Amino acid sequence: MRSFSGRDILTLKDFERHEFLRVFEVAEQLEPIARSRRNGDLLREKTLVTAFYQPSTRTRLAHEAAMLRLGGRVTGFSDAQMTRAGDFYQESIKDTVKMLEFYGDAIVMRHFQEGAPREAAHWVSVPIINGGDGWGEHPTQILTDLYTVWRERGRIDGLKWLAVGDMRMRTMHSLGYGLTKFDSPVTFVAPPEMSLTDEFKDELAHYSLDFSEAEHVEQVIGEADVILVEPVVQPDYTKSRDERHGQVAHTPDNYKITQELLETKAKSDAILLHSLPRMDEVPPGVDVTRWSRYWPEAFNGVVVRMAILALVLGAME
Ligand code: CP
Repeated sequence: MRSFSGRDILTLKDFERHEFLRVFEVAEQLEPIARSRRNGDLLREKTLVTAFYQPSTRTRLAHEAAMLRLGGRVTGFSDAQMTRAGDFYQESIKDTVKMLEFYGDAIVMRHFQEGAPREAAHWVSVPIINGGDGWGEHPTQILTDLYTVWRERGRIDGLKWLAVGDMRMRTMHSLGYGLTKFDSPVTFVAPPEMSLTDEFKDELAHYSLDFSEAEHVEQVIGEADVILVEPVVQPDYTKSRDERHGQVAHTPDNYKITQELLETKAKSDAILLHSLPRMDEVPPGVDVTRWSRYWPEAFNGVVVRMAILALVLGAME
């Protein structure tokens, strides 16, 4: 088995099936620390650097919370405008991360440019964790989602997934790659202009993923054990920052998960995931139904990052 120690977490494409399960086992083992709101000391001699070139609530703070829960330290930036990468110098990824590797023992990076974390990993000796790169991938989010399902159901195999949203999203790419390692059929529902690219479909087929596409959630929600939703009304992820100006469009019914839809069409024990932030695709009324799991999913976001940090920093094997 490959060791996680010193490894970059850039994509789920190269994750092996047993490696998913190892992350889940370590997360389960560390979970009591977060659940009891304690801070342990497993990473007391380590420092995490956060390099966020795009806004984030969950990914940055969950990594920071994970590090603090394990007794480690955190430094970094959440706004590249306050660094030399965001001013007159437009300092390159290489020059920036060459500095950051001296400030800590692992770097979690979010960037608007697809492939930026991979470029960073090329230049430094400490592990790079991809916290979302443009439209590229978001591996730690999907590890969180898979862990949430694994904890609920005790397995990933044999469960049918429904993925709704913009298929250009980095989470959808990581989900597709992740599910190729399991016996988990998935149906994708997306607006035509946001549908799976031919290139991505070829890749998923190459890895033997059992997938299909549908036009409306209503047609397929009844089959799903896991419903994973992302917005179709959202910013341009290739920009460092995309402000909202004026009114935004409403999510069409085809891509919306309402309480009525869940009550009339969904399996009674289906699990509804959303990585958040959301627009109107999952109305707040759904939060208190039995299907919603996005709050436990957010808690698991800390636990899974604890596992990833413990593994890549060599505190657990
Ligand atoms: N789920 C997620 O990536 O959220 P943030 O953009 O807040 O990090």
